[in-house]
Amino acid sequence: MGLPEYVKIVEVGPRDGLQNESISVPTSVKIELIERLSKAGLSVVESAAFVSPKWVPQMADHAAVMAGINKWPGVSYPALVPNMQGLIAALAAGVSEIAVFSSASETFSSRNTNCSIEQGLARFDEICVVAQAGGVRVRGYISCVLGCPYEGSVEPDRVADIAAELLRMGCYEVSLGDTIGTGTPGKTRSLIEVVAGRVPLKNLAGHFHDTYGQALANAYSALECGISVLDSSVAGLGGCPYAPGASGNVASEDLLYMLNGMGIETGVDMDRLISAGNFICNFLGRPSGSRAARAFAANRT
Ligand code: HMG
Ligand code: MG
Repeated sequence: MGLPEYVKIVEVGPRDGLQNESISVPTSVKIELIERLSKAGLSVVESAAFVSPKWVPQMADHAAVMAGINKWPGVSYPALVPNMQGLIAALAAGVSEIAVFSSASETFSSRNTNCSIEQGLARFDEICVVAQAGGVRVRGYISCVLGCPYEGSVEPDRVADIAAELLRMGCYEVSLGDTIGTGTPGKTRSLIEVVAGRVPLKNLAGHFHDTYGQALANAYSALECGISVLDSSVAGLGGCPYAPGASGNVASEDLLYMLNGMGIETGVDMDRLISAGNFICNFLGRPSGSRAARAFAANRT
């Protein structure tokens, strides 16, 4: 299969990135980060999570973030929703797109959402009905598609079952999450071949964490399989509080550098993306996790 001409980059830094920070990030900083990411030309900026503040304190200001952001035309600002309580809060905050999150591992499902995979899917079924009735689009995530921090290897058929179920409920897209970054390009390909045997490729996205330095290679493998939607995190921020030791997603700047180099359109401006990454790294007081951003900075001085 040929490589896609256009790739949609789903920026998850303000959510997947900041959910894992040990220092508290003020709402105003999140809002400014989201503004800069919008200005960079990203068409999707995942901005918040309507999850329990006891479980993930960094996302506690979800409603204030959604109220404070400047919603650019043509840009979607999805928020994670784990249950009906989260959906009600998200709807009240004026969210127009949500993301539900399942897992291909029972133990991870229980640690991350305090319920079994089946219980989680039953919740999402109801959430999809209510969300869609209110004109809210729903994206689906599946975690641990290439390995679980508690159970080890995961069966691709299990991932395919859950992807089919999420699409049946009405999710417009399912993002395959390598939560702990243990995947390699061959395993990524094998997984996508199995999942794409059951659901349309056009409804799949790749979400690769970079714990073992494989995220960009896995993203390329996904592109070769025909996937044209990739999640990434500015400055490589991120991880999951319930996946100990997992690092951030593939850095958006690194992904963009690769796509630009291959002549694949994204609509994203590198300088503005780097500026967004610099902004949040300055606040966090650490260097960017993006190799491309660091290389551009070094070559300009
Ligand atoms: P629970 O404790 O089973 O919930 O948590 P509960 O229904 O029993 O309620 C207990 C308390 O939580 C109650 O408060 C509820 O009001 C409150 P109390 O009476 O004790 O004061 N509560 C809520 N508060 C705010 N918003 C809500 C909400 N629901 C209940 N929506 C729950 C279940 C799902 C809520 C919890 O486990 C949770 O919030 N989990 C979220 C974990 C999370 O955010 N993980 C990171 C995101 S997933 C990820 O990063 C992976 C991804 O990037 C893809 C990949 O990389 O693979 C997407
Ligand atoms: Mg993630």
